Amino acid sequence: MRTPIIAGNWKMNNNPAQTTEFVNAVKNQLPDSDKVEAVIAAPAVDLPALLAAAKGSNLKTAAENCYFEDAGAFTGETSPKVLHEMGVDYIVIGHSERRDYFHETDSDVNKKAHAIFKNDMLPIICCGESLETREAGNAETWVQEQVTAALKDLSAEQVSSLVIAYEPIWAIGTGKTATSEQAQEICHIVRETVKNLYDDVTAQKVRIQYGGSVKPANVKELMAKPDIDGGLVGGASLDPQSYLQLVNYQ
Ligand code: G3P
Repeated sequence: MRTPIIAGNWKMNNNPAQTTEFVNAVKNQLPDSDKVEAVIAAPAVDLPALLAAAKGSNLKTAAENCYFEDAGAFTGETSPKVLHEMGVDYIVIGHSERRDYFHETDSDVNKKAHAIFKNDMLPIICCGESLETREAGNAETWVQEQVTAALKDLSAEQVSSLVIAYEPIWAIGTGKTATSEQAQEICHIVRETVKNLYDDVTAQKVRIQYGGSVKPANVKELMAKPDIDGGLVGGASLDPQSYLQLVNYQ
């Protein structure tokens, strides 16, 4: 009953011309959005090109970040209100790179989630533990706490519609994928956390992605796990043919 969602997260790669070229190469070979939602999260500077090229296709669009205020004296930030006006569907928040390099806190992630809903878009909320946390045996607690903080004061209806991406930091860009069992284990914990905070109906509706070295060779195995509803893909989403294999994994 949950529509799978495969999202490419381009990070700080590609320029507007490359964006247009990429979308033109993939847009006629995407799955129906009721079978698999295909999303590209692009840097803010590429969003006009992404939106223009994706118009009328099955490709959904995402920003990689936003601020939690709609407007004001916030030099260099991106307004969620303007992202909505532009036609963006999703916004990735709480990515470990934003948490680590740009000091995004759990409280920022929660404020951003509220701002995204206020502006009629959907957040893709990232969570995930470091290698140190995993080796100390604290991965579950870490993820439970991140998810609980991110969802603070959101309604069950809002939580039912959003996406949570579990991305163990040690598997990002390292070529070291979590085994499908490890990914399933924590994605299950994420769903249980939602169940404990809300109810079983909400937990059964929320979509959970796994991210960390997802590629065409492992996507099928990961997607076969009961609590994995999608992938958030960095490196392997940059090549159009590889992206097409990912979104057409079925
Ligand atoms: O958000 C996607 C991500 O951090 C995983 O990156 O390159 O390991 O697929 P990658």
